[in-house]
Amino acid sequence: MKTIVYYFSGTGNSLAVAKKISQQLGETEIVPIASLRNTPGEILPEAERVGIVCPVYDSGLPRIVAEFAARLNLSQAGYTFAIVTMGALGVAALHQLNGIFKERKKKTLDAAFAVKMPGNFPPIGIPPTGSKKDAILDAADARIAEMAGKIQDAKHVPPGFAPISGVVKRITYGSFFRNVHDADRSFSLSENCTGCGTCAKACPVGNITIVDNRPVWQHRCELCCACLHFCPVEAINLNMVQGTKGRGRYRHPDLRMADMELQRGSI
Ligand SMILES: Cc1cc2nc3c(=O)[nH]c(=O)nc-3n(C[C@H](O)[C@H](O)[C@H](O)COP(=O)(O)O)c2cc1C
Repeated sequence: MKTIVYYFSGTGNSLAVAKKISQQLGETEIVPIASLRNTPGEILPEAERVGIVCPVYDSGLPRIVAEFAARLNLSQAGYTFAIVTMGALGVAALHQLNGIFKERKKKTLDAAFAVKMPGNFPPIGIPPTGSKKDAILDAADARIAEMAGKIQDAKHVPPGFAPISGVVKRITYGSFFRNVHDADRSFSLSENCTGCGTCAKACPVGNITIVDNRPVWQHRCELCCACLHFCPVEAINLNMVQGTKGRGRYRHPDLRMADMELQRGSI
């Protein structure tokens, strides 16, 4: 049975889940959502099974994923699933996705899953390291195997009750969605910057250009924080909430720069 998995990922958690699920399902094409951002019109996947894998942002979907979902025509899909990766809580993002499909009178999700992964937003929580990080990733692997089994058996899995993330989403998500493209105004650069251009290469939506050996953000940011986490000298900081200075950086151990370039559709 052919499966297409669409994914978005800033630091590799969602990509790792997409890849591992695909290996377990077999005959699966993995498509970066960011690579479709400048294409027009509806997206009609030709596969019997269609999945979406993405992170939770502010208890909801990344804006790029919400916009993608509104363009997705699932009429030819026999079975649909979504998996959100999150640092702590975010089941409300799955309800949001179902809501987008319902609003457009499209087929909704047959199965909706959330999986806890290392958090990647240092302004709010310091990303886990060492054995704490390894334990989260090991537990996630077990959860991925469980989710793959349910998908293979075409189980119906509703998103589940989300009282806390539902309330948080109602309070914060509207403003996140409206302002996220301009959120890059909150990045700052220290004198450590060597002008290496890694941040521009890592940005999955091509939001950074290098001018006079320095990154310039173009205000179509998704706040995925890839630039922050990939910078080899931690010259980039995000001035929100508690900031990011001395608050660690995170990338999934399997993530490579080529994965980020592939998302942008540039290799
Ligand atoms: C802007 C932003 C907002 C986030 N908001 C939440 C949140 O509301 N709840 C949560 O559990 N994790 C939140 N996270 C953490 C990510 O959802 C989590 O680390 C995810 O696995 C990252 O996936 P990725 O590596 O594929 O980008 C947030 C991360 C970012 C960058």
